[in-house]
Amino acid sequence: MFFLGVVSLLFGQRACPVDKAFLRVKQSAVAFQPRQSQTDTLWVPVVFHLIAQDSSGWLSDLRIASQMRALNRDFAQAKIQFYLPRYGPQGEPTCGVTRTLSPYANHDWTSEENTLKNLIQWPPDSFVNIWVVNRMVLNTIGYARALRDTEGVAGVVLVASVVGDRDGAQVPYDWGRTAVHEMGHVFSLYHPFEGGCVGMTPQTCATEGDEICDTPPQARPHYGCPSPVPNTCSETPTDRPDPLDNLMGYVDDSCMEVFTPQQAARMRDFLIQAGPALISEENHVRRGRTLAPAEACAAVAALPSVSQLPLHWSVEGSVLRIHSPDPCTISLYDALGRQILRTEGVEVSVAHLPEGAYVGRIERQGIVQFFRFWWACGW
Ligand code: ARG
Ligand code: ZN
Ligand code: CA
Repeated sequence: MFFLGVVSLLFGQRACPVDKAFLRVKQSAVAFQPRQSQTDTLWVPVVFHLIAQDSSGWLSDLRIASQMRALNRDFAQAKIQFYLPRYGPQGEPTCGVTRTLSPYANHDWTSEENTLKNLIQWPPDSFVNIWVVNRMVLNTIGYARALRDTEGVAGVVLVASVVGDRDGAQVPYDWGRTAVHEMGHVFSLYHPFEGGCVGMTPQTCATEGDEICDTPPQARPHYGCPSPVPNTCSETPTDRPDPLDNLMGYVDDSCMEVFTPQQAARMRDFLIQAGPALISEENHVRRGRTLAPAEACAAVAALPSVSQLPLHWSVEGSVLRIHSPDPCTISLYDALGRQILRTEGVEVSVAHLPEGAYVGRIERQGIVQFFRFWWACGW
């Protein structure tokens, strides 16, 4: 039987200025049992709930997109990938980002976790909720609760200043790795320094500390990016340096990048067992994973078709339609002038394009016409 230790909050018991410490309460001696992992990518829909005191405090959709790229960059090591849903809990169109005004954007997680999460929350068996607040007490930059946490709602809480990948986020937490680290907790990982120098032998490394054998034990968290790599525990039979570059540590974002193979396997096994509905194909269909982007996104035609040309065009949702009696050659170019699409016909879907500015080219019977449009979400 799979058994997850309860993740509970220990207030102020670690000398960490930015962290809300987590400790696994070992209620049972039942160890985590690694299983044969499925080999295909596990998909996870996430929703960002942006909570701010006034509308200037909400992050832009572009910051969220940048954070999504960081999550998928780092979680590629575990073959876990995230997407923003195109349909919300009620099947309504969404870009996967909500915006709420509340004084609780100034977040005291020691007493107001439920208050925050009750402001807005999507069903946790269909989405991983990520709440983004403006400030947190005790300089906390993020905290998490695992799926199936018995004491609170699963998900991640982040301070807005650490959201995004070198895209306005605040040095040294500016590579989007706080979200990555917290998502590691959601998927059952602990810090490599959990318990200090324990799990020091091949016999104990799977049941003590972080319960991961390919992260050497570490006595305490490291900050910044110490060099040379410290070695704070003398494990046997081979004493290795601390796992400084591990994403579950406390070093600067630019210093961490690794989920080990066993961390990856543990996350995948946990997701399969604790979040079967979340990662199910049925959920992905409901969330419109393949329909990117949704009705909530729009192509906006920016310039009138200059000139004497006979062709007109219009935008219908995510479809560009050329008002021509017979097929044309339609080409689309991105803002760098690269051709990204070429087709014969009278309409083209732009639903799969990244947000941005594009140039279209229509050719019919030797007559060429250009137009511009902007494709964007979250209007
Ligand atoms: N506060 C986080 C936690 O323990 C740790 C911060 C992650 N470190 C980082 N470089 N982003 O849950
Ligand atoms: Zn942590
Ligand atoms: Ca060591």
